[in-house]
Amino acid sequence: MKNLAIFASGSGSNAENIIRYFAQKPEICIKRVYCNVPDAYVLERAKKYNVPTLVFNRPELHNPEKILHQLQEEKTDFIVLAGFLWLMPPCITSAYTQRIINIHPALLPAYGGKGMFGHHVHEAVIAAGEKESGITIHYVNDHYDEGAPIFQAKCPVLPGDTPDTLAARVHELEYQYFPEVIEKTVHKF
Ligand code: GAR
Repeated sequence: MKNLAIFASGSGSNAENIIRYFAQKPEICIKRVYCNVPDAYVLERAKKYNVPTLVFNRPELHNPEKILHQLQEEKTDFIVLAGFLWLMPPCITSAYTQRIINIHPALLPAYGGKGMFGHHVHEAVIAAGEKESGITIHYVNDHYDEGAPIFQAKCPVLPGDTPDTLAARVHELEYQYFPEVIEKTVHKF
């Protein structure tokens, strides 16, 4: 049995998709959803599935006695970032080397880095006239979007796409692949 934590900052549609997927898999348990935004919709989604939540602020994330302690107390083996918009602090990245993965809504190394999240990414991809976008699932280190890639999948950018239509296409890829990639990666370590 492996214990997973999900970190999210927003709507949490990926978090919900991951929770639903692993509800059918007794060998992986979602222990808790961690969230830095007190009114984020991901908290409602977690409650619907009886997954415990924890809301924290930046000093708590950086204090090893708080979030890292909670993760270790619950014997968390693996951390999944699903729309989590803060940089993970060194106290957590060093305790969880190769055991934190993130999903990014573009084909890294393009369109990554600080400030590149959600609709900002899709706006930049469309503005650059790209013909393709997609998803990147990667390990997390101390820099935004720079950890080693694990998996990518592509989708077209269509004429007339808006950030919303492109986001919807990219979200479909996320729902299709992220849970399976998490499962395979967790079983590897
Ligand atoms: C997802 O598209 C995810 O790839 C992106 O935020 C969205 C969250 O949606 N993450 C980033 O941009 C990280 N740089 P959700 O809250 O509905 O899962």
